[in-house]
Amino acid sequence: MSAKGIILAGGKGTRLYPMTSIISKQLQPVYDKPMIYYPLATLMLAGIQDILLISTPEDIPRFEALLGDGSRWGISINYCVQERPEGLPQAYLLGESFIDGNQSALILGDNLFYGKLDFFRKGLENTDGGTIFAYRVENPSAYGVVEFDSDYKVVSIEEKPQKPKSNFAIPGLYIFDSDVCELAKSLKPSARGELEITDVHKHYLNQNKLNVVQIGRGIAWLDTGTPENLIEAGTFIMAIEKRQGTKIACLEEIALMQGFISKSEFLNTVDALPNCDYKNYCLKILE
Ligand code: TTP
Repeated sequence: MSAKGIILAGGKGTRLYPMTSIISKQLQPVYDKPMIYYPLATLMLAGIQDILLISTPEDIPRFEALLGDGSRWGISINYCVQERPEGLPQAYLLGESFIDGNQSALILGDNLFYGKLDFFRKGLENTDGGTIFAYRVENPSAYGVVEFDSDYKVVSIEEKPQKPKSNFAIPGLYIFDSDVCELAKSLKPSARGELEITDVHKHYLNQNKLNVVQIGRGIAWLDTGTPENLIEAGTFIMAIEKRQGTKIACLEEIALMQGFISKSEFLNTVDALPNCDYKNYCLKILE
C-alpha cells in the first residue's frame, strides 16, 4: 500500500500579520508560486498521489479554488477543515478516515525542501513505526530539538527549548504508521493549549519505533513563518531558478516526470493556463 500525504496548512500566521489578515500564510507567494505548491511538490516527488489538505474554515475554499481535486496533476486532493489551530497532531484526528490504516507523511504547509529528496523516499520505506528528520540550524529554539549521543542515538526530544541541547531541529515532515491516529487520541494539550507533535515523537521513541534521520547540508530546508524567512525563501528560489533556467515546484512538470499524467494530459493541463512565464516554461519542457 502506498503512503498517504497530509498537508497541514491552517494556523494563525500571526508572525506574518497584516499579510495574513485576509489570506493565509500558505497562499502567500514564494517568488513565483503560492507557498502551498512547494510542500505539495515535495509529496508528489516522493510518489505520493493521495493527499489531504487541512486548513481553516475561511481558507479551505481558496485552496480548493487554487488546486481543485488535483486530477490535472494526476493526484487526488481532499480537503478538511480544522476549526481551530489546536496543534499539529490534530491532523491525525481529522485525517483518521483518510489515513484508513495506511502509512502517512504529514508536511507543514510552510516548510520548503530543496535538493535530492532521497532521505524522504527512504523514510517512506520504513513502514513500521515512524521516521522524522533532524537538520542543523542556527536557531534551534524555534523548533522541536533532537539531542544525539556520540553514536548518533537519540537521547532527548524537546519542543522549542529555551536552552537547546543541540543544533538539530526537526523539520515539519513526519512519517508514521497508522498507529499514530490512536496515539493522537490519547494526547493532552500542553501548557500552551496545543497538542504537541513532539509528544507523538517521544511516544514512538519510548517504544523504540522512532527512526531519526539526519539530513545533510546538501538539502535546503526553509520555513516561511516570519517576513524575513519568507523573503529569504523567495530569494533562494529565485536565485536557483534564474541560474538554472528551471522551475522549482512546477506541479505540471513533476506530474509528467513522475508519470502521474501522460504527455497529452500534460498538454491539456498546460493549454488551460493563461499566457505567462509559467506556461512558457511548461511548454519548453517538452522540447
Ligand atoms: P506555526 O508556524 O507554528 O503557526 P502559525 O502558522 O499559526 O504561525 P504563527 O506562529 O505566526 O501564528 O505552524 C506551523 C504550520 O502548521 C503552519 O503551516 C500552520 C500549520 N498549523 C495548522 O495548520 N494547524 C495547527 O493547529 C497548527 C499549530 C499549525
